[in-house]
Parts: sequence; structure tokens; C-alpha cells
Amino acid sequence: MTTAEQARKALISIKDSGSGRSAIELGWLDQIRVNSAKAIVRLNLPGFAQSQRDRLVQEIRTSLLSVEDISEVQIEIGNPPSQAPIGQAGHGQAAHGQVPQLQPIPGVKKVIAVSSGKGGVGKSTVSVNLACALAQQNLKVGLLDADIYGPNIPIMLGVADCTPEVRGSGAEQQIIPIESCGLGMVSMGLLIEENQPVIWRGPMLNGIIRQFLYQACWGELDFLIVDLPPGTGDAQLSLAQAVPIEGVVIVTTPQKVSLQDARRGLQMFRQLDVPVIGVVENMSFFVPPDQPDKSYPLFGVGGGEQLAGENSVPLLAKVPMEITVQEGGNDGKPIVHDFPDSLTAGIFKDIANKIVKNVA
Ligand SMILES: Nc1ncnc2c1ncn2[C@@H]1O[C@H](COP(=O)(O)OP(=O)(O)OP(=O)(O)O)[C@@H](O)[C@H]1O
Ligand SMILES: [Mg+2]
Repeated sequence: MTTAEQARKALISIKDSGSGRSAIELGWLDQIRVNSAKAIVRLNLPGFAQSQRDRLVQEIRTSLLSVEDISEVQIEIGNPPSQAPIGQAGHGQAAHGQVPQLQPIPGVKKVIAVSSGKGGVGKSTVSVNLACALAQQNLKVGLLDADIYGPNIPIMLGVADCTPEVRGSGAEQQIIPIESCGLGMVSMGLLIEENQPVIWRGPMLNGIIRQFLYQACWGELDFLIVDLPPGTGDAQLSLAQAVPIEGVVIVTTPQKVSLQDARRGLQMFRQLDVPVIGVVENMSFFVPPDQPDKSYPLFGVGGGEQLAGENSVPLLAKVPMEITVQEGGNDGKPIVHDFPDSLTAGIFKDIANKIVKNVA
């Protein structure tokens, strides 16, 4: 056996922590060669696996130095797998003066984004329950968690411990969505190593969102719901400049600070020529479980109506604050799926009906 073959053999046990597959088999390690006593290898990590880089580099070094006749290791960082191909033109140009080229996802009929300028207003809660409500209408639904820094959807669907299967290698790599509550879901939370802080740079984030759009096996879908992170940043832009979006749902709470941020979020999509389907006012009021005739507007009144009115879009619903909604988020039991007959589940179903009608 040549030293290069020995080097390859030493590297074969290095694995992707997500899928458990060999990094060589996945095409992440290639161009393995040995010059005198120096081993050289190229590491090509797709965006979603960047969090594993330090560990992989360390394991590559240790494995290669354990081979007799190798005393030096050089690791070259290769190009990540190529991004999805670019197709026909789409969403407008206002934001940056250039016409972005949009690429539909084969088999996916309608992409609906859920967004808001502000954090913690209930975007993920609305995304999950809206997706469940659509799935209950026998529609084929996917859910893409585009919150790459703070992915919460796996917990909300009760699949935080699941690891998606990754098929193929290199640029052909495909992620198989995790099934839960009748939908397929992809999230960074399923791929990063637990408790590892991850810093994504803008271009990396764009690459990951594109991979989730185009390199997940979504199959035939009536709706792909995309849960966005708070703000008006890279994730919103990456999505709007990648795929044709049927419309965006803006989530807000009734108070002024939330409204201001939601307004900015709404305007961003307008500038990108993405239709705004409507506003969901979340945490509109609280009905104590033991006093069902009482209702307390904890965060003020009228914010959703105001935002919808000033932008001439419908107010799709006012969703109450309900303990079951909060507990369901924590325990992986979306209220629409686990308590379909509850008042709040009915409100989410109503939102789903309006969206189906709106984008029909
Ligand atoms: N209608 C509701 N009733 C009770 N709790 C709710 C309701 N909506 C959201 N919550 C709770 O509020 C918290 C924030 O909700 P969620 O994570 O959906 O917000 P978000 O806008 O996605 O946040 P982020 O900006 O961090 O992504 C969660 O604990 C969730 O369970
Ligand atoms: Mg969220």
C-alpha cells in the first residue's frame, strides 16, 4: 500500500456528525496526496457543515500524523459545493438597482414567507401552526426554518433530536427533510452540533438558505412555508433574491415598538416586489383559562389593524396569548396539530384558509 493509500484509509473514519457518513464519501475530503513526508488534503465543506470545520481539521491532522512516514499535514480549504443554478428573472429590482434572477424549486408550487422586523413576536409559532393547518387540508406542505442563527422549529415540532439523512456527495448533496405533524421540515437546528456557537457571515448564510431551498428533497409541495429570522437582513434578502415568493405574512404584536419594526419589515418586502398577503397580530389579548369571559389586552390594542390599514393589506387574524400555544412550542406540540378543536387552533386554520384563497 502506498503512503497516499494509507493516508486515505486513515481519513475514512472521519465523519459528518449530522448524517454519520464518511467525509470522504460525501466529497468533503479529496485530492489526498503525499509528497515525501507531507500529506496534503483538500477540505470542501458545504455551508451547512461549516460549524464542523474546526473539529474536522483537528481529526484530519491527528489521523494523518498517525500514519507512518507522514510527519507534516497541509489542509487546503476548497470551494464549497456550487450553488443552485440561476434561472429566469423575477422579483423586482428596487432594492439594489439590479434585477435578481429567480429560480423556482422544482415541484414546489407556492413559497410563503413569514416575517417581521422584530424578534419574539411569534413568527415561528405562526409558521409552524400555519403549516400544520395547511397540511390538515390535505395539502402537501414543507417548512423551511431560515433562522440560521437561532433555529427554533425543530423544538416546536418535537424533532430536535432528529438528524436528517444526507444523500449524495459534493454539489449533488441532498438533505432529506424530517417529517413531523404531516410536514417535511429542514432547519439548521438539525445540522449543527449541539451547544456550538456558530458565526455565519453574510455570503455563507446566503449559501445555506439556497442549499435549503434547492438541495433539500422537498418533493411535490403545494406550499413551502419559510420562517424568517427577525429583522430586515441577509436572510430576507437571500430568500427574496433566490426564489419566487407568492407572498409574505407579516407578524406583529399590538404594541408600538413591534409595529415600528414590523412596518420596516413590510416595506422591505414591498421594495423587493414581494406581495404582502396580510398581517397577523399575535398576542393580541389574554383570556385567563379560569375566567373565559375576561380578556386582557396585555400589549395594547389596535397595532395590527393600524399596520394593515396604512398598507392597505388585510388583517388576517388576531391570535390570543394562550398558555397551550406557549407550552406547545416548548414541547413540540403545535396547538393546531395537538389541540385542533381549540379556539386558537381555529384562528390559525382561518389564517390558512385566507392564505389559500388569497394565493389561489
Ligand atoms: N399566541 C401566543 N400565545 C402564547 N405564547 C406565544 C404565542 N405566540 C408566541 N408565543 C411564545 O412566545 C415565544 C416567542 O415566539 P416565537 O419563537 O414564535 O417568536 P419569533 O418571532 O419566531 O421569535 P424569533 O424572533 O426569536 O425568531 C415562544 O416561547 C412562543 O411559544
Ligand atoms: Mg423564530
